[in-house]
Formats: sequence, structure tokens, C-alpha cells
Amino acid sequence: MKNILFSCGMCALSVGAVAYAAPGDVHVLSSDKNSLVITAKQGDGQAQYQYFGPRVSEGDVTGLFDARSNYSTNTLPLFGMDSRGEKALAVEMPDGNMSIDLKIENTQRTSDDKGELLIVTYKDKYYPVTVKQFFRRYADTDVFSTWTEIANNGKKGDVRLLTFASANVPVTRGDNYLTQFHGIWAEEGSMNESPLPNGQSVISATSGLRTAFDSNPGFMISTGGKATESKGEVFGGNLLWSGNHRTKITADNHRVTVLSGINEDMSSFNLKPGQTFTTPEFIMTFSNEGKGGVSRAFHKWGRKYGMAHGDVARDILLNSWEGVYFKVNQETMDQMMGDIAALGGELFVMDDGWFGDKYPRDNDHTSLGDWMVCEKKLPQGVKGLTDATKRHGIKFGIWIEPEMVNTKSELFEKHPEWTLQNRNREITQGRGGTQAVLDLCNPKVQDYVFSITDNLLSENPEIAYIKWDCNADIMNYGSLYLPKNEQSELYIRYQQGLHSVLDRIREKYPDVVIQLCSSGGGRASYGLLPWFDEFWTSDNTDAYQRIFLQWGASHFYPAIAQASHVSASPNHQTKREIPLKFRFDVAMTGRLGMEIQPKDMTDEEKEFSKRAIAAYKQIRPVVQFGDQYRLISPYDNGSVAALMYVDEKKDHAAVFAYRMDYLKEQGVPKLRLDGVDENKNYRIKDLTPLNPKKPSKLDGKVVSGRILKNAGLDLGDSRTLGRPWSSIALELTAE
Ligand code: DGJ
Repeated sequence: MKNILFSCGMCALSVGAVAYAAPGDVHVLSSDKNSLVITAKQGDGQAQYQYFGPRVSEGDVTGLFDARSNYSTNTLPLFGMDSRGEKALAVEMPDGNMSIDLKIENTQRTSDDKGELLIVTYKDKYYPVTVKQFFRRYADTDVFSTWTEIANNGKKGDVRLLTFASANVPVTRGDNYLTQFHGIWAEEGSMNESPLPNGQSVISATSGLRTAFDSNPGFMISTGGKATESKGEVFGGNLLWSGNHRTKITADNHRVTVLSGINEDMSSFNLKPGQTFTTPEFIMTFSNEGKGGVSRAFHKWGRKYGMAHGDVARDILLNSWEGVYFKVNQETMDQMMGDIAALGGELFVMDDGWFGDKYPRDNDHTSLGDWMVCEKKLPQGVKGLTDATKRHGIKFGIWIEPEMVNTKSELFEKHPEWTLQNRNREITQGRGGTQAVLDLCNPKVQDYVFSITDNLLSENPEIAYIKWDCNADIMNYGSLYLPKNEQSELYIRYQQGLHSVLDRIREKYPDVVIQLCSSGGGRASYGLLPWFDEFWTSDNTDAYQRIFLQWGASHFYPAIAQASHVSASPNHQTKREIPLKFRFDVAMTGRLGMEIQPKDMTDEEKEFSKRAIAAYKQIRPVVQFGDQYRLISPYDNGSVAALMYVDEKKDHAAVFAYRMDYLKEQGVPKLRLDGVDENKNYRIKDLTPLNPKKPSKLDGKVVSGRILKNAGLDLGDSRTLGRPWSSIALELTAE
């Protein structure tokens, strides 16, 4: 006879004793669409996952055990007493004992400002080590999470953490497919889907900083065959960690288990007496509405819990990088500000090249660390720039790369010991042949990194936006600050140092918009997004490739978080020539911006840009806060892609479609709009016609949701997707 502890909304309620063989008290955490069922018994060694999937009722839970269809997977497999298989926790006790033997002390049902919690507290049977394991249901979302806290309560001796995963979660074994997002510079988030093999599949990062280049920590596993965007059962997971991560997916004919956490390679951690180590949260969701369902759940969660200011509309900006690169000066900045203001933009961001006194930043070989304005380029300082933006009626933003130093800089001359390096070895240098990473394990360096942002923002309160860049990995594995027995903590201590700097910045400057850039999307993950408003999706601004890059990123990260800029043609990275309309129609699916020298644009191009920016303002709330539906994948045929956004009430939508090439048959498939309400009628507006007097033939038509969803739109004519490099952006308004 066991208790079922059910939850409804924020309350946990016991519904009494029922007869079935559940191994312990049954805890059910339910969101609108999903339920997580966990059993835990006081005195036992382990809590167990029994179910995670579509929402179940109390009767279902009884049936789960009667039908023996529960998973029974240990939530925290331990090393030492049974050393076989993958483990979530392995430690070395102060006396060298390599085993950990826990038993459940108690379980607690509670809630915090993010939702409902189940906390299982374990104690080692002999050593003074306690572990708390948390399971959270995030309020108003279908996302759940889990993580642990490991405490050394002893008085003497370190407990060395060797393996310390955040999650060990089962996924139903079936005809499973794994979708993962690998990438490198300019190819971030490349989507790969393959049948899940028996054995082990590993998603991991080792670069220390640009960990989303190696592999994004987000992944999906379908459980009943290959899922489509709208159909199929899909488990989605992601780790909220900004450093090296690792997810091992182990499968055999009966089971699939996901073990996810910090990548412990070279990273054992010494837990001192009285210290507690908290593992990062692993978030997960499940949808039987295909991959689109999983993405929409993560987007909603991301806007509410996973990023800064997820409910505040973003400004349309011009960034100076591809327009002028390092050739920054007052006059050019002023001209660019005036131009973007005239086009309807709202913010100007001055990128790299503005700083350095002894070593002016004219290229990437010098000056990182010397965050004083280069007076030769900007005689009126930052004030001259903020005054100019004020004059133009827009806001001002500025680029920094605060975690870095060039060996050719005044900072390095003064503090060579602040750089990550190995004793008795030369520093391996990165970008420009001279770039090195500052040692954020060192509290003095943390203070210095904080002071860069603090000085800029306190001296220039008009700065509304910061672009925080990071163009290096940790190559020199050594800290002159950490003592010799703590060197193995460097990867983790660096991240903890960075987080504490970011906490201080956010505490003092809660409202400033901060972009997370890392040579493009090298840090595009929820590990750092809680402190940031958006990420620079990629240095690759080729609109064709952006369709793929943004498609990949959109599996986890909402459009409001994705900076997406219109750049010049031919594109600087690929030399591809793409019409301006197409470039806008692609950039409008994220946080729209421009990255171009407007002075080089023709009057017609400027006129079009002005109209496109005005059109984006019309649909900004739908794109930035709405639900995304991916409609036709560029990965499927490479020639046509389409997606849409719709507001919660399904009254207002924006639809985007692209033609990149001729298909074998030349025709374009009908575009069925999954996101509309079948019972509403929608008026269609062509948002970005090349010639406003000749919009698409669909413009002005009123079509029912039932037709839009089931029959679809014909986009094959010459004013829509008739030719390669044609595109369309439509606004749908319910009547
Ligand atoms: C890399 C970034 O991704 C670019 O956007 C630009 O800011 C450069 N760094 C500047 O050095």
C-alpha cells in the first residue's frame, strides 16, 4: 500500500492508499501536457523514474504499476557498491574510499518562484556526505528539470568529485531517432538526425568557452519513429551550463538512458569541509506534437525563465562590424547612426575597433584589455557617441570582449599573471596571434572584468546595449591563482567566476540589453542566456545559410533571442549574391537588425529597407513573443523553406517562405499553415512587396484557417516563389 502524491497546479495532494506494487511513495508532477512520475522510499538507496510523458491521471498511475509499464530507472546511479555501467555520481572520500553508498533520508514537496519541487535528500551510510536531488516542474510551461547538490559535511578532508551528472533520465525505447546540433564557426547548430544505435551516442564540448561550437547541449529523441514537425512523440533535453558539457545516450534493445551534466574530463572537483557543489539544471520536455511541440515548449520556457527580459520587445539595430570593421571614427559612426535612424531603426551598436591608447585597436593583434577610448578615432569619447545617437533619436550600444587580453596591450604588460597559463610554459596565443584568456578563477580578475562594464555604464548611463564577445577557447590549461591541488577545477571555477561577474552586472544594471556573442554563436545556449537578452546566431550572415543556421537554433531558442542581421551582397563570408528582399525576409524571422554600411546602399535599397523595417514593427510582437511553427524544412529538399509565428490567441500571424533553387519539378509545394485556427478567417497582407503597387496576388484575400491549414497557400506564381532567391513575408490577421 503506497501513497500517491499528486499535484494540481502548485499544490501537492495525497490521494490516499492504493493497492499496487510501487517501490516507495509515488510522486507525480504534472503540467498541462506532461507528467513526471518518481518513486522514493525513506531508507532506500535510490529514487526512481517511473514515467515521463503525456499527462496521466491518478488512475493511470495505478495502472502504470499494475501493467508493469513503469521504467524503474535509478535517478542517481552511484559508483562503488555496484560499479557497472554509467554513473551519475562517483567520489573519492578523504580516506581514499572510492565508493558512495546513499540512503534516502526524506522527501519534500514544496514550491519556489519558478514552480513546484520534489526534493529527495540522501545521506551516505558512513561518511558525512549528503546529496539533495531536485525535480522541478516549471509553472505555466511543459518543461521539467533536475539537478543535485552534493555537500561535504565533514570537518576534515576533501571529498573529490569525479563524476557528477545532473540527470540520468530514461526515454522510452522504440524506433528512436536522435537529433543533435553540431557546428563550428559559421556553421553553428547544424542539424543531424539519425536512428539511435544500441551502444552509446555522446554530445559533448571540450573547448572551455565556445562550447556551442563543438555541439549545442540541446538534443531531441523521438520515441515512435522519425518525428515530423507536427507529428510524433519527442523527448527534448538541454543542459543549463556554459562550460564543457556532456550528454551520453546509452541504448540497448530495452532501454534508452540520458546521462547529462558537466563534462568531467580533466575536471575533478575538491569539495572542502562545509562546501556544497551544485550541478547545473538539466531541462526536459515531451511532446506528441512532433519536434515543433518540443521547440514551442522550450521557447515559452526560455522567454519566461531562461533568458534576460524575455517579455520585452527588442529594438531594431544597425551594428557597425561588417559595415566598417575596425575603421571606427566619430564621423563614420555619426553617419551610420543618422542612416539607421532615417530607415526607422532604433539603436546603433559600435562594434570592435573603438579602444586602445598605447596600442590602438586597428586589427585583432592588439589592445584587448585596454578599455579606454582611442582618442585619435573618437576625440569626444563615448559621450560624443551617445550625444550623437540622442541627436538622431535612437539608442546607443557598444562592443566589449572583457574576458580577454592581447599580449600586446597595456593590461598584459602590467598583469601578465592574470592570464590563464601553465607554469614554466609559453602561452599558446589565439586570434591575431596574440589573444589570451583572463583567469576568471582569480577574484581580482573578476573585479577587473566587472569594472570594464561598470565603468562604461556608470560613466555613460545612456549606453542601452552591450555586445559581450568571446573569441577564444581555453587553450592554456593552468591558473597561477589556483593552488596546485585545485588546478583540475579550472574549467568549472572559470565558469563560476564568470557567473559571479555577470550576477554583479545584472544586480547593478538590470535593464541594460546585453548580447551574448562568441565569434558568432559559440555560446548560444541556456548556460549563459539567463544574464543575456539575445545571442549573435553566427558570423555567417549569408541569408541562404542563415535559413539553416536559424532553423537549427530555433529547435531550442526563441526568435527573440536570435540576432539576425541584413548584411551586404555579395556576402562577406560566402561571396553569394542574394536580393535585399530575401535578406530582409530571412532576418525578419529573428531579432531584426542590419550589419552593413548604409552609405553604400542605393536609394531604392534604402526605400525598400525603410518599408521592411516598418513592416517588421507590425509583426514584431508575433515574431518575438509568438509560437513558432516550422513548416517546410530546408534540410528536406534544400530548395524551399517556410516557417510561421502566431500569437497565443491565433489572431495575428507572420508567414515566411523562401525559394533557394529550382526543384526537380520546378513547382513549389502548397504551403500549409499549421499554426492557424481552423475556425477563424484570416486577411492576408504582403508585408515586403518589392513594388508596393504590385504585391503578391494573395494580398488582401480573406481565407479560412481550415483552408490555410488543410489545403494551403499556392506560392508558385512569379510574384511569390516563382524563381530562385525569391521570398515572401505575409501578415495574417483574423477578422
Ligand atoms: C566576432 C563577432 O562574432 C563579430 O560579430 C565581431 O564583433 C567581431 N568578433 C569583432 O572582433
